[in-house]
Amino acid sequence: MTQNDPRLTPLIAALPSTMPFNCPDDVERALERPFAARIGANECGFGPSPKALEAISKAAPEIWKYGDGDCHDLRMALADHHQIGPEHIMIGEGIDGLLGQLVRLTVTEGTPVVTSRGSYPTFNYHVKGYGGVLHEVPYTGDHEDPERLIAKARSTGARLIYISNPNNPMGNWHDADVIARMISEVPEGALLILDEAYCDFAPASATLPIVPDDPRVIRMRTFSKAYGLAGQRVGYAIGAVPIISAFDRIRNQFGVNMLGQVAALAALHDRDWYTNILQWTSEARARIGSIAEANGLRPLTSATNFVTIDCGADGELSKRIVAELGKDAIFIRMPFQPPQNRCIRVSTGNAEALDAFEAALPAALERARKS
Ligand SMILES: Cc1ncc(COP(=O)(O)O)c(C=O)c1O
Repeated sequence: MTQNDPRLTPLIAALPSTMPFNCPDDVERALERPFAARIGANECGFGPSPKALEAISKAAPEIWKYGDGDCHDLRMALADHHQIGPEHIMIGEGIDGLLGQLVRLTVTEGTPVVTSRGSYPTFNYHVKGYGGVLHEVPYTGDHEDPERLIAKARSTGARLIYISNPNNPMGNWHDADVIARMISEVPEGALLILDEAYCDFAPASATLPIVPDDPRVIRMRTFSKAYGLAGQRVGYAIGAVPIISAFDRIRNQFGVNMLGQVAALAALHDRDWYTNILQWTSEARARIGSIAEANGLRPLTSATNFVTIDCGADGELSKRIVAELGKDAIFIRMPFQPPQNRCIRVSTGNAEALDAFEAALPAALERARKS
């Protein structure tokens, strides 16, 4: 327990020190050697577009300047890419940063919000930081359940409803018609956050056309996954003008760093690299599935850049598998909540990373089952 500085607000003083995730770099430091495979954080193991790297090098001497507080060029390019007006787009420090800002805009102490138990935890972390009251509904099977989420939003008077489609940590998805029905049922006074961090990897049937004026939903996208720029921290929200323009009241004006903007713009324009990433990701998913099956495990169908693998027992076994692979410098993660924690989660990566995973898995499984 850390000592509380008496100047903290009562809300913050009552919060535990917490991070939504263990940081890969902390794990690597504890390991005291480099990872053989960094396939736990759903990063893009194939790297960023070479054109993004070139753009970063070219812009690097300019970093004495603040970045463009309006992210003008990137916002215009995204507006063109999605064929919507730029006033419907807010760029931020990744989806994580935008979620924090959106919670700040809408949640105060006691505000009810709804999410799924075991879904992407960063949203919950922000809600707790602003004193909101989290109402969690269970998954149905291994899917987030739109009907349950909406019913809970109705019964609690929730201001925000969060769903990720495709879903982290399970990798599955709902088709667009299911999400369209969910949007049509968003209660008066509530806002649906549709986190589409992985939509690039999903079948076309999973992604709704963008209706930018719809005030019931705000959609979140990122350059961290299919564009390979997680370290640059660039994401964006798409929504109706009243909610998008509200970010201007609280956002950190120079929060999106200059090299991030430059890199994202170049990556957005490099459609060939983007297509390669989708292809390599799909091949890597298939390979992870084969490795799992060869070891008697069941890979779940994924529309993301990771594969969730059912290990057929409980969370204790999965935890031991994660730990045993960790000893071999293979970094993976697992879902937090039962029954999804019967699974481990393996991010796609290049051939070298998957070779290391394939080599380490049989013995790691054996040790995990014995201990
Ligand atoms: C569902 C989901 N949303 C958001 C993020 C984070 O996105 P960003 O890097 O843009 O903050 C992740 C990262 O793993 C994620 O799984």
